Amino acid sequence: MESVLEIKNLNKSFGSNHVLRNFSLTLYKGENIVVLGRSGSGKSVMIKCAVGLMKYDSGSIKVLGQEIKDLNAVELDALRVKMGFVFQSSALYDSMTVGENLEFPLRRNRPDLRKSEMDDIIKETLDNVGLYYAINLLPSELSGGMKKRVGLARALVLKPEIVFYDEPTTGLDPFTSSEISKLMLEMQNKYNTSSITISHDMYCARITGNRLVALIDGTNYAEGTFEELQNSEDEKIKTFFTHGLGKRK
Ligand SMILES: Nc1ncnc2c1ncn2[C@@H]1O[C@H](COP(=O)(O)OP(=O)(O)OP(=O)(O)O)[C@@H](O)[C@H]1O
Ligand SMILES: [Mg+2]
Repeated sequence: MESVLEIKNLNKSFGSNHVLRNFSLTLYKGENIVVLGRSGSGKSVMIKCAVGLMKYDSGSIKVLGQEIKDLNAVELDALRVKMGFVFQSSALYDSMTVGENLEFPLRRNRPDLRKSEMDDIIKETLDNVGLYYAINLLPSELSGGMKKRVGLARALVLKPEIVFYDEPTTGLDPFTSSEISKLMLEMQNKYNTSSITISHDMYCARITGNRLVALIDGTNYAEGTFEELQNSEDEKIKTFFTHGLGKRK
């Protein structure tokens, strides 16, 4: 199987806070890995390192065959276009409409496109997440679920090969969160992406995750399918499942 992202023995500290300790993970083409871990365990730090937003202390991160610490700023920018990032907080530009939020990355990274071509891509992408009708709204006029959808659309607008989702369903009601999880699956198939998803939401983990990785004590403590981890006898793994959310239909 072809791997699109390989993280090996990643270490990252902030002063005496040794957050990642030899964390390793391989993402294969077409799959979605869900990373589980308690708050503060280093999940966001790990994906920020993977997309080149944060420097790490040691280890190796290869994205689409390229070692990211060997890249200069121009090369890293070119590689970043192939990676979509859905931020934990949606991180939309508040002063821009929904349409402009999608236009921004297109203008920046696809100067080859004409305005009408950009408009077509924006329309198609918003249609795909069911939000074309909101194209002229500002982020302050959107609900939490709509913001997540726009964040997803903005990550997909450049047709990335790898998408990183940082808590795509956090803060949403169970119904909306299951809609977003289903949308992620749909988009994975439609855009043919590989992805890493960070989530506390066991329903999202169960329906979107081809594999799960538990980030505990800074490392890839355990890995398996949802069912394999759900049946684990390990006390640290069991705590992820004790609220019964994984069983929700
Ligand atoms: N820029 C930073 N400077 C200093 N410490 C940081 C920085 N970013 C993260 N940390 C620390 O790294 C640790 C891991 O943070 P991280 O944001 O990765 O947690 P997380 O697993 O994503 O948690 P959550 O589920 O709450 O989002 C925390 O102890 C945090 O305080
Ligand atoms: Mg986080």
